[in-house]
Amino acid sequence: MQEVNKIAVFTSGGDSPGMNACIRAVVRTALYYSKEVVGIKRGYQGMIENDVIPLYAYSVGNIIQRGGTILQTARSKEFMTPEGRERAYQTLIANGINGVVAIGGDGTFSGARVFMNEFPDIRFVGIPGTIDNDLYGTDYTLGFDTALNTVVEAIDKIRDTADSHNRLFIVEVMGRDAGFIALNSGLAAGAEAILIPETPTSIEEVIKRLEEGKKRKKTSSIIIVSEGDDAGDAFAVAQKVKGKVDFDTRVVVLGHIQRGGSPSCKDRVLAAKLGMGAVETLLSGGKGVMVGVRNGEVALTPMDKAVKHNQEINPGLLRMIDILSR
Ligand code: F6P
Repeated sequence: MQEVNKIAVFTSGGDSPGMNACIRAVVRTALYYSKEVVGIKRGYQGMIENDVIPLYAYSVGNIIQRGGTILQTARSKEFMTPEGRERAYQTLIANGINGVVAIGGDGTFSGARVFMNEFPDIRFVGIPGTIDNDLYGTDYTLGFDTALNTVVEAIDKIRDTADSHNRLFIVEVMGRDAGFIALNSGLAAGAEAILIPETPTSIEEVIKRLEEGKKRKKTSSIIIVSEGDDAGDAFAVAQKVKGKVDFDTRVVVLGHIQRGGSPSCKDRVLAAKLGMGAVETLLSGGKGVMVGVRNGEVALTPMDKAVKHNQEINPGLLRMIDILSR
């Protein structure tokens, strides 16, 4: 096994709060073990274009609290081609890099797997960085907790105005094709209905719920719609309930505010664990694995498993929501 001499770190796919704290952890751990460390800017695209910067302990000072990613991020189409990957490989070789820490989601890990099959002399280790929490093999992804806090804060504010006006608000949240943000924020904010892609949506059932609430003198209602729901987006759901509920209705799409902002304490602690865990995994010979957490401890999952398997929805959570949202 060839020793890892120089480590590169990059962020890829959609950004998520805590990526900077994680870059900091990677850099400072690598330096602790006397390894050189560089940052690749703009994900795989920067790898193709040799956009590589040296990173020192001071380069990652004062970033632990900042949202976004100092390395920027991208979704590279060129990396999906053999020519693009060959150019990326040449960048790594020219810079003497043989260990890579990839912070991103399933697209990032799929790219890493293809690359490692073609160029086995480069070792990749992945860190789950996405607000969606949709990766198998980790209880939490980096940025999920912060995104949840952002959503809950927004819904609390929406509830104030909804209640004053006796209104129904339909709030759309992110999550691509996963309902974790919707479920957890909906539970925390006391939403009356939560629509997620993992379970079929019955609009009739939603309407029945709202009517029951109205009879019990509820002065506002909130429906959370995960962007990938089978009933459609928040506007589509508003159309479907129009005229069928005795509430004046408004739609709010929370959008990219969910991706920004200062990471929560929980995400910063997670960033430290994952960043340090990734470097130590690389240095002890690991490759092709995602470094996640299970029950608070660092846990490794082969990247192909993390990508191919789905993170399951907890049935206990669904039951709790069903009982408490009435
Ligand atoms: O994967 C993170 C995420 O924010 C998803 O929740 C969402 O579907 C998607 O990225 C949005 O991507 P973009 O920023 O490219 O519009």
